[in-house]
Amino acid sequence: MIKLSYDIKKYRKDILDLINEEDTVIELGCHIGGTTKILPETCNVIAIDNSPEAIGKMKNIENVHFISGDVRRHEVLAEAYKIVQTCDILAIDLGGGYHPDTVFKVFYIYSSTFKPKHTIIRNRGLLEFFNSAECGEDNYVSKEGYLDSYHDSGIPPLIKEFDFWTPSLKNDD
Ligand SMILES: C[S@@+](CC[C@H](N)C(=O)[O-])C[C@H]1O[C@@H](n2cnc3c(N)ncnc32)[C@H](O)[C@@H]1O
Repeated sequence: MIKLSYDIKKYRKDILDLINEEDTVIELGCHIGGTTKILPETCNVIAIDNSPEAIGKMKNIENVHFISGDVRRHEVLAEAYKIVQTCDILAIDLGGGYHPDTVFKVFYIYSSTFKPKHTIIRNRGLLEFFNSAECGEDNYVSKEGYLDSYHDSGIPPLIKEFDFWTPSLKNDD
């Protein structure tokens, strides 16, 4: 199942409604653990965030393996993949108003790599798109937490596109 929300309380409720006690969770954008801390302590959690604030707060939580880094970077994905190769829950909150195109790309890369049973995403733009788009007649629906049409794509060799998305042009100075 894939769930979209914007309200943080709804995001957390969606996770708690779907999670089981022994689940493996990958949480992208954990910040200082507001959501991480309400997950069952019996879960195995891999939490990733690039904020310096997260480092002190997220280290040394018993059931949480914290990775400090940018989720768009291949080495960060690879570090998570060394720890687990699949997950039950993929939770993505890079900030509710974060660019939806980036959030979708991050969802696509992580979900096709870890094949979660459920993905929960907090993002206003994706929610607005989903609520506003009229569907065509083709009935493509995934019951899992990843897109069924891409489930055999494997681990992306390198996320080269991310290089193009930096705010400044690298070779411009
Ligand atoms: C709204 S906060 C997350 C709040 C958290 N999910 C909670 O429930 O308390 C968004 C977080 O996403 C992180 N973030 C945004 N872009 C990121 C990226 N590219 N890589 C890693 N973390 C990112 C920010 O550092 C920030 O801590």
